[in-house]
Amino acid sequence: MKYEEAETMLKKCAQDHVLAFWSKLSKDEKAALLSQIETIDPKSVKRCAQTLQNGSETPDSSKGKAPKVALLKGKALQEAVAVGEKELRQGKVAALLVAGGQGSRLGYDGPKGCYEIGPITNAPLFYFHARKILARSLRYGKSIPFYIMTSEMNDAATKKCFEDFNYFGLPKEDVFFFTQGMWPGMSKDGKILLDAPGHIFMSPDGHGGLLAALKRSGALADMKKRGIKSVFFFQVDNPLVEIADPAFIGYHVNEKSEYSLKLCAKRDPYEKVGVPMKFGEQYRMVEYSEMSKEQCERKDKSGKLYFLYGSPAIHVFDRAFLEREAAKAMPLHLAFKKIPSLDEKGKLVKPSEPNGYKFEKFIFDILPNAKKAAFLAFEQKEEFSPVKNAEGNDSPATCKADMQAKWRRWLEEAGVKVDAKLPVEIDPAYAVDASDILKNGICLGAE
Ligand code: UD1
Repeated sequence: MKYEEAETMLKKCAQDHVLAFWSKLSKDEKAALLSQIETIDPKSVKRCAQTLQNGSETPDSSKGKAPKVALLKGKALQEAVAVGEKELRQGKVAALLVAGGQGSRLGYDGPKGCYEIGPITNAPLFYFHARKILARSLRYGKSIPFYIMTSEMNDAATKKCFEDFNYFGLPKEDVFFFTQGMWPGMSKDGKILLDAPGHIFMSPDGHGGLLAALKRSGALADMKKRGIKSVFFFQVDNPLVEIADPAFIGYHVNEKSEYSLKLCAKRDPYEKVGVPMKFGEQYRMVEYSEMSKEQCERKDKSGKLYFLYGSPAIHVFDRAFLEREAAKAMPLHLAFKKIPSLDEKGKLVKPSEPNGYKFEKFIFDILPNAKKAAFLAFEQKEEFSPVKNAEGNDSPATCKADMQAKWRRWLEEAGVKVDAKLPVEIDPAYAVDASDILKNGICLGAE
C-alpha cells in the first residue's frame, strides 16, 4: 500500500490522524505503519465507530427462557456413542481449538496453551489436548485433524511449543495452525489509538474471529477436502474436556443439529459462564455479565435454579454451518480497557483508568442462526475445570485437583486403590477412559 492510498482510505473513515506523525518516522517505521493500515478494513472501522455511538450490539436478555437440555443415559447413551464412533471411524470429525487469547487474568505471559498443568510432569495444556486427540484417532483408526487458532501475539510461541514437543506424537500433517484477525482499539470518540508514532494499537478480534480466519486460512476448505462433517470446538484453558467425545458427536448427528452445546449445572447462581436462553424459536448465549441478579437467582417450581445450565464452551458444529456463517458479518462487543496510547503531541500516556475500547466477536453469536440447535448435559467434575485465575476458583490448583480426582476415579473403576495423598497423572494417549486402564494394565511407580 502506498502513502496516498492509505491517506485516502483513512480520510474516508475519518481516521487520518493515524498519519499525524508520518514526517517523523524512519523508512522502516513508515513501511511497517503502511502494512498495518493495509490490514484494516474501512467498513469494519466505520462499524466499530458506529457501535461506540450506539453501544454494544447485544439485545435485551430479560425475556429469555431456559432451553430444554438432554441427559443421555442407558440405551440412549449407548446409541449416541455408537453413532459417534461410526463418524470417528469414517474420519468425519475434526477438532478445533481457540487459543488466540492472552491469558491476562492468569498473569501468564506466553500462550495459555504452554501453561504447565500436568500435576507430575508439568506438561503444558496443549499436551493434554493433543494427546487426547491422538488417543481417539488411534482408537478409531482414522486421523482427527486438529485446527488451532492463534493470534499474532502468540502464533510463533505456540508453533514452537508444538515443535519442541514433537507435536505431542500427532502427525504433523494433521495439525493446522491459523491466525485470527487483529482490530484497532479506539478512543471513546471513535478515533483509532496509536501506541507509538508509527504503530496502531491492535488486539485480537475475539474467538468469533474464528470464522473469518478459518475461511481466509484455507482451514475450512481443508476440512471439506478431508470429508469432515462435524467440528468439535473447545477452549484452551480446560484440560478436562473430552475432545471428540463419541456420545456428543452421536447426539449432534442424531439430532440433525447444526450447532450443539454441552452444558453443565452451574456451581452457584453467579458462576462466570455463559447461559444459553430461548427467545421465541431462537436460542442465544447470554453472558454472565448480561444477566440480572433476578435472572441469576430465579428458581423453578422444584426449587432448582431456573437457568441452571451454563456453557463451558464445548460445541459441535456442522462444517457446512460454519461455511455458511463465515460469509456473514458478526455482532461486535465492546470491552472498555486501559490502553497505553499517544496524546496529541505524540507522548505515550499509560492510563490508570479505562480510556479506550477493544472490539471482539464471540463465536456463540452464530447460535441464533442455526436451523437446529441442541443442548446436552454433562457432569462438571468429568469435563470442565478451566484454568482462568491465578488463585481461588478456576485456578491451576483447582484444575490439577480435578484432573487427579478424575484419574483416581478411573483407577478405582479398574480396581486400583490410590492413596489420596499421592499425586496421579495419566498420559491421555495411554487411556481415553477407565476401560483403557483395564485393557492396558497399569504400572505404578514413584519418583
Ligand atoms: C468464556 C465464554 C463463556 C464460557 C466460558 C467457559 C466468552 C466471551 N465467554 O469466558 O461464555 O462460559 O468461557 O470457560 O468467550 N480466545 C481467542 N481469541 C480471542 C479471545 C479469546 O482465541 O481473541 C480464546 C481463548 O484463548 C480461550 C477462549 O477463547 O481459549 C475463551 O476466552 P476467555 O477470554 O478465556 O473467555 P472467558 O471470559 O473465560
